[in-house]
Amino acid sequence: MLSIPFIDVPPLNGAAGTVRLPGSKSISNRVLLLAALCEGTTLVQDLLASEDTQVMLDALRALGCAVEPDGSSVRITGLGGRLATREADIFLGNSGTSTRSLTAALAVLSASQGGRFEIRGVPRMHERPIGDLVDALRPLGCPIEHLGQDGYPPLRLGDGRVHALELDAPIRVRGNVSSQFLTGLLQALCLVAGDRDVTIEVVGELISQPYIAITLNLLQRFGITVRNESWQRFVIPQGSHLRSPGEIHVEGDASSASYFVALGAIAASAGAPLRIEGVGQDSIQGDVRFVDAAVGMGAQVKSGPNWIEVSRGAWPLKALTLDCNHIPDAAMTLAVMALYAQGTTRLTNIASWRVKETDRIAAMAAELRKLGAAVLEGTDFIEVTPPAAWRPAAIRTYDDHRVAMCFSLAAFGGVPVRILDPKCVAKTFPDYFESLFALVRADAAEVPVITIDGPTASGKGTLASTVAQALGYHWLDSGMLYRATALSALEAGVAADNEVGLAGLAAALDLRFGDERVWLAGRDVSAALRREEVGALASKISVWPAVRQALHDLQLSFRCVPGLVADGRDMGTVLFPGAPLKVFLTASAAMRAERRHKQLISKGIPASIDVLRADLEARDERDRNRTVAPLKPAEDAQLLDNSALTIEASVDQVLAWWSARRPFDRG
Ligand code: DC
Repeated sequence: MLSIPFIDVPPLNGAAGTVRLPGSKSISNRVLLLAALCEGTTLVQDLLASEDTQVMLDALRALGCAVEPDGSSVRITGLGGRLATREADIFLGNSGTSTRSLTAALAVLSASQGGRFEIRGVPRMHERPIGDLVDALRPLGCPIEHLGQDGYPPLRLGDGRVHALELDAPIRVRGNVSSQFLTGLLQALCLVAGDRDVTIEVVGELISQPYIAITLNLLQRFGITVRNESWQRFVIPQGSHLRSPGEIHVEGDASSASYFVALGAIAASAGAPLRIEGVGQDSIQGDVRFVDAAVGMGAQVKSGPNWIEVSRGAWPLKALTLDCNHIPDAAMTLAVMALYAQGTTRLTNIASWRVKETDRIAAMAAELRKLGAAVLEGTDFIEVTPPAAWRPAAIRTYDDHRVAMCFSLAAFGGVPVRILDPKCVAKTFPDYFESLFALVRADAAEVPVITIDGPTASGKGTLASTVAQALGYHWLDSGMLYRATALSALEAGVAADNEVGLAGLAAALDLRFGDERVWLAGRDVSAALRREEVGALASKISVWPAVRQALHDLQLSFRCVPGLVADGRDMGTVLFPGAPLKVFLTASAAMRAERRHKQLISKGIPASIDVLRADLEARDERDRNRTVAPLKPAEDAQLLDNSALTIEASVDQVLAWWSARRPFDRG
């Protein structure tokens, strides 16, 4: 995702299509660690590429593992349970899975083999508890030192010396703050169960049990069958030895699936359900049970081994009271679905939300209220009653990927939603917004458009593309369509006065845009379109009404979610007369000739300023005086003379005008 300060989601009214999920974070990070600890080489396929897996991969490299990425796969050669390096300083960002499981593994390895490691993360990671894990590891004989506050990272594991581990008594761990402590112990203690059974006992309640099921399942894939005694005692049998399965495939992320299951329930029609690929009935992830909750709220669901199809059933959705202990992450999505329910939804047993990426109960409550919902929160529950009147809201995301993702679904209430700091989704789903926008629909009139018209070489292309990038919007360079028609005409030998022939070429343009390049009928024509003779011919042929008409619908089709910045001559006057912001950009002819001259010289193309200026003026004249769609400012356009402005200053001005027109609180 682009690193922009916010992304505005316009009011949405439908969803359809297929989404392919990124790999599961929980499976990816467990598999990476097990592949690094075991004996042998593992090819991990469809690994999640995100911040949380990146910090894990970096840590494994720091520990001396051979990590060879290969497209969406990675090949890891395990350490075979032997430390390859005895000291390292490891940074784990805000990844809970990485921090908890590496703490356990490195505590056990450094104590038994003599090593010393430091583990740290971002400031929020240093507020996330780890004391229960430390308390479980110390009685084993693992030296662990808190380098900051007691009970929280950063930690020093090991003191460089070898210690005999005390493994005869059961290792006791509390399970009611995070199940990741137990996961960490299960993985780590498999390294030292060679000559005896190793028993782990859960003290008190065990939350998020399905995550332990994932751990047990993957340990089995790596050759170890842990005896599960009613989720209270876990016995790693004597002689256990982690062995690579050779190849392992990471299924799609079930927590990430929750956003699309919800999307289908809110906005997909039964005739065209939303299809989610990568997880399904056979999933080993507990969050796949989110589907049952969605069905409880009214969703229509069909599923197969690794796919789910969802459409709207009941509407409004049905309010629900649910113990969410088994789906703690995905349950946040239910809190947003509750906005569309009839009545009050109550989600209980979610105390763990308070120690995640942020205090999720407080965060959800505050942001749901901004939309107009009535919210009641307690230490371990949240209650949501839909808004009586929806309000446009700028949603804070607290550096929490799940807050950003689930609130994007709040755009079906008839008002736009601004998601602040959207790049936080990179933690688990870097392309989330692109995936979402490819599936959703909005009334064209609701999709915001900024038009930027002006004469040749006024700098509107640079301004428009920069503004589009800053807002995460699409960009239409309409001149490019006239240029492409002109290029086709030159190549096909169609004369500049053959209106019908030219219109035929315009209607048949096979254009593709991407990566700042343009392809015409599969050929990269980016450079050809910039040629002076092509521009001059474009100006000539654009006087023909039939040519303009032929390009009309193609231009309108660029207006899609989340928004559009369109530049040209008649964007504000003809194509998008209702655009909420129209800019008319000018610069003196002398200045424009000078800019064009610099551009050409820098590309090694010889040019004369005087000739360029005469040419610009002739073109302006023609564009201004043609009968159809002449170049002129729309009545309600903001005029911007950028003769003396830097590009940044022009961009800032347009963004300031834009922000003043948006319905969001700028407080
Ligand atoms: O913006 P440009 O220089 O790439 O455009 C090339 C020609 O295309 C321009 O001289 C006039 C024509 N044009 C137009 O008539 N209407 C538009 N919206 C965009 C360009």
